[in-house]
Amino acid sequence: MDKFVVIGGVPLRGEVETSGAKNSALPVLAATLLTDQPVTLDRIPRVRDVRTMQRLLVDIGAKVDVQGERVRVQVGEIRSPEAPYELVKTMRASSLVLGPLVARAGRARVSLPGGCAIGARPINLHLTGLEQLGAQIRQAHGYIEAEAPQGLRGATIRLERITVTGTEDLIMAGVLARGETVIVNAAREPEVSDLATLLVKMGAKIEGAGTSTIRIQGVERLNGADHTIIADRIEAGTFLAAGAITGGDLTITRCAPEHNAALIAKLQATGAEVTQPEPNTVRVRVDGPLRSVDVSTQEYPGFATDLQAQYLALMTQAEGISIITETIFENRFMHAQELARMGASIRLEGNQAIVAGKKELTGAGVIASDLRASASLVLAALVARGETVIDRVYHIDRGYEKIEAKLAGVGAQIRRME
Ligand code: EPU
Repeated sequence: MDKFVVIGGVPLRGEVETSGAKNSALPVLAATLLTDQPVTLDRIPRVRDVRTMQRLLVDIGAKVDVQGERVRVQVGEIRSPEAPYELVKTMRASSLVLGPLVARAGRARVSLPGGCAIGARPINLHLTGLEQLGAQIRQAHGYIEAEAPQGLRGATIRLERITVTGTEDLIMAGVLARGETVIVNAAREPEVSDLATLLVKMGAKIEGAGTSTIRIQGVERLNGADHTIIADRIEAGTFLAAGAITGGDLTITRCAPEHNAALIAKLQATGAEVTQPEPNTVRVRVDGPLRSVDVSTQEYPGFATDLQAQYLALMTQAEGISIITETIFENRFMHAQELARMGASIRLEGNQAIVAGKKELTGAGVIASDLRASASLVLAALVARGETVIDRVYHIDRGYEKIEAKLAGVGAQIRRME
């Protein structure tokens, strides 16, 4: 298992480029199942979750041709409409194939995801939504079997709570359903809008993506298309936090700063200087003490739960007490114990972490527990005195493309130990 070895204390300076968004790449790859024509996707990040999704598509019957960041997928026919446990257990987003498979093939068999490091993460809302579209759902042997032999028919689906991949799954089911599908209380994440943009290029009729009510007029069939996905706002946000925590001067390029508005507002409140020198570029500078500022995670456009761990690492270096409230997942503070081993003062109370700063961090051996928790350990290691060894970095490889090379490019002393 690979490890990262980091020597802290170097302020990050210079320019670092953002990759395409992992959480856009996964649904748009799933969307290729909706047509027998080729779909070409660009800026697909080379991360492990993307490779897992590509494997899943190949198992189902796709021909996948990868040329760097460009991926061409053609699913001439659905050979096996199934997502096996072996893949779903390594990546929960595999459930994104459920909607498109039922829509195109009339049936799907998808393993139920098991427990997860950050919370229970059920997919009940994907399932009740599909039932409302006319699918029959059965559960047996750890698998969900969904069937709609006569095809899906449009309906109004009111999501009980906001779900990102649930919204995406149901959009992909709705585009080939007969008549109108309306999704109420839909997720407004930019990745949902990006998926809708691709689907519209493929011939789908979708209105309201990016708002909480999405209206879809079903069509008979979809065509191929070319699409470049959006920048990864969580990666960009992680770099913003890295620039700030090291007291550096970092410019993040090829990103969409408007997708990070909630984080940027918080960083500015802590005393960091954040500017947009050019379009698609954001610069963070810190030269002086940071103030502690409370955060509560929310669905987009609120403060992203996927940036909570990184922000918490930053707050260990801010003066005063900050309260970090996690409202999306029930168990997303695994990083707190590891940060405490590095010298942070963090008290957990229910869904809140109370961080007392500023505390000097010292290098230690720590273990990554999930993707974003790993990123927070890297950030802490970048300011810690001495050497930090981060174990189980396969978690970080799921969603960050060449993070060690990108950080080393702006001065970080970080290397991978195989
Ligand atoms: N939920 C249910 N029932 C459902 C679906 C969700 O109760 O059927 C609950 C979840 O348990 C959670 C909340 O609703 O408490 C929100 O979950 P959501 O469905 O929005 O999460 P997701 O779609 O599984 C995506 C991202 C996550 C990100 C969350 C929240 C992808 C592939 N994954 O997950 O990204 O944290 O939205 O923004 O888009 C990551 O990249 O590290 C990551 C975990």
